Amino acid sequence: MDNSPIGIFDSGVGGLTVARAVRDQLPRESIVYIGDTLHSPYGPKPIADVRRYGLEVLDTLVSEGVKMLVIACNTASAALLHDARERYDVPVVEVIRPAVRSAIAASRSGRIGVVGTQGTIASGAYQDMLSLTPGTQVFAAAAPRFVEFVEAGVTDSPELLEVAAEYLRPLRDAGVDTLVLGCTHYPFLAGAIGYIMGPGVTLVSSDSETAKDVYRELVSGDLLAAPTAKATRTYETTGADSAPFIDLANRLLGSEVRDVRLVRTGQIDLRTLREAQG
Ligand code: DGL
Repeated sequence: MDNSPIGIFDSGVGGLTVARAVRDQLPRESIVYIGDTLHSPYGPKPIADVRRYGLEVLDTLVSEGVKMLVIACNTASAALLHDARERYDVPVVEVIRPAVRSAIAASRSGRIGVVGTQGTIASGAYQDMLSLTPGTQVFAAAAPRFVEFVEAGVTDSPELLEVAAEYLRPLRDAGVDTLVLGCTHYPFLAGAIGYIMGPGVTLVSSDSETAKDVYRELVSGDLLAAPTAKATRTYETTGADSAPFIDLANRLLGSEVRDVRLVRTGQIDLRTLREAQG
């Protein structure tokens, strides 16, 4: 048994989809969530920068005493999964492997599509992992503007449908029967994406699949919170202005997030230290 919190990390607010799934499946577990809003969005950034920012946030979570790390961001998972597993003693769960497993199980034809940010698609992480299964053909498309629509609260405008049709055309033309929504924000666009892809295409999103991996790791590592444990959920951001985070979180997920703490990751601490030293 271990009553320490689970540490969940995302570039911003989108990873709350994963936090919500973990909360629903494991309501007695405490959670510390950090959204790296100072550096968000990660999608268009060079992989090396995403890796650096991500490790700083994960270091911060570990220093806060978490018993497990969950990388809820697809772009960050693609950038630093291997580094994270080597660097920390606590188990690390990311979003790519669970989604890949579920897509392989769901596909009848072996023709699987993946849609994600530029960073995720350019890294090839999904494509590499999916192609490990013999008989699988992978088709990938970046959808740079999807995050922007979700963050503006737009999930059904004619413009969104037009943009979605354009991004998804190559995947439709390829005849995929399963599509991985490889980004924290895309579950909110499942209606639009499902409409464009048609009813014969199964959509796989990483939030609930990742929560199952968290569950599995906690049980197999004897890390579940005690039956008497009282769960706490703490939300932290790196950006100075937490109002947009709270607003978006509550718009997307209901009124769970009332208060957000500002945290300083390694780089900022270092800068503060340097300033203090003169
Ligand atoms: N969290 C990112 C992801 O899942 C999307 C938002 C961003 O670009 O930072 O890839």
